[in-house]
Amino acid sequence: MLILAIESSCDETAAAISRDGREILADVVYSQVDMHAEYGGVVPEIASRKHIEKVSLVAQQALKKAGISPSELDAVAATCAPGLIGALLVGANFAKAAALQLGVPFIPVHHIRGHIAANYVAFPELKPPFTALVASGGHTVIIDVEDYTKMTVLGTTRDDAAGEAFDKTARILGLDYPGGAAIDRLSKQGDPNAYKLPRAVVHDRPYDFSFSGVKTAAVNAVHNAKQKGEEINAADLSASISVAVADAIAPRVVAAAAEKGRKTVVAAGGVAANSTLRAELQRLCDKEGITLCLPPLSLCGDNGSMIAAQAYYEYLAGNTADSGQNCYASLPADEQLCGLEL
Ligand code: KG4
Ligand code: ZN
Repeated sequence: MLILAIESSCDETAAAISRDGREILADVVYSQVDMHAEYGGVVPEIASRKHIEKVSLVAQQALKKAGISPSELDAVAATCAPGLIGALLVGANFAKAAALQLGVPFIPVHHIRGHIAANYVAFPELKPPFTALVASGGHTVIIDVEDYTKMTVLGTTRDDAAGEAFDKTARILGLDYPGGAAIDRLSKQGDPNAYKLPRAVVHDRPYDFSFSGVKTAAVNAVHNAKQKGEEINAADLSASISVAVADAIAPRVVAAAAEKGRKTVVAAGGVAANSTLRAELQRLCDKEGITLCLPPLSLCGDNGSMIAAQAYYEYLAGNTADSGQNCYASLPADEQLCGLEL
C-alpha cells in the first residue's frame, strides 16, 4: 500500500511516501527554521504562509523521488493535531483535496503518534506493546503503547516542554535558534554540577513533568551573573540543564515501563536527539533489562516519514476520514482524532 503523507504542524513542511508503513520511498523536508530564527521562535502566521508556498512542492518532489505517479497512491495522509492550527490546516487541506481528486481515502494522523512511529521506520522488528517517550519543543509525554492505534497517556508536562527549557536557555545565552542542539554540543565541555537547577516533582502524578522551574532557574543564573558583572559559563550551564532534564525524564520513563511490565522503551521527538538524555535512558534501561530504541537524529525531529508510517496503521484500524475532517491545536495522543466533532 502506497501512502503520501504531509506534515505541517509547526515549522517544517514535509512530505513522505511509505510502502506498507515501514518502507520509506521518499522523504522531503523543507525547514522554515531560518525564517523564524530572527524572531527567536516560530511565528505562526509566517509558518502558515510558508506551508502554503511549499506544500505542493514537497509533495511533488516526494513523488518524483519515489518514482511513482499520483494515480499509484492508495491513500493520502496528513497531521491533523496537535500543532499550530493555521499550519495544520494547510497540510490537512492539501491532503484532503489530493485524496478527493485521486478518489483514495484520507488518513488523519496525530503528530505524537507519528513521532512514535518514526521508530517503526528505524527498527523494522519493533512491534507494540512498549512504553514511549515523546519529547519535543512542544511536548514531553510518556505513553503506554498497547497496539499501533491503542495507547494510554501516562504522564505529560504541566507547563513547559523539555525543548522549551532548552530553547529559552539557549536564547538567553545568545545561541542560535532552536538552541537544543547547540546546548547539547556545548554541554560536552561543561561541568554538570556547576549550576544547581531544580528537579520538579508533580504531587500524586509520578509520570508528569514540570520544566518551567528549571527554565526559570537557568534564565535567572544568566541574569544574576550579568548583574554581578560576572561571565556566565555557557558550557557549564548547558551541561547543568542537560543533566537536570535527563534526570527528570529518564527515571520516569523507565519506572512507567516497569509498572506496565513493558520490556521495550522507545524515544522520539527532537529532544530525543539529546546526547545526555540518550545516555541516561540507555544506562537505566540496561540496568532494568529493558530494550531501548533510539531513532537516528534524522528521525527525531519533525518529518513526513513518521506520519506516513503511522498512517498505515491508522488505515488498517479503519481510521480514515472524509473531507469534513477538522484539525485541532491540542488533543491527547490517546484520543480518537478521526471524525472528531468540534
Ligand atoms: O520534534 P521537534 O522537531 O518539533 C516539535 O514537534 O516541537 O522538536 C524540536 C525541539 C526544539 O526544542 C529543539 O531545540 C529540540 O527539539 N532539540 C534538542 C536537540 N535537538 C533538537 N534538544 C536537546 N538536544 C538536542 N540535541
Ligand atoms: Zn514534533
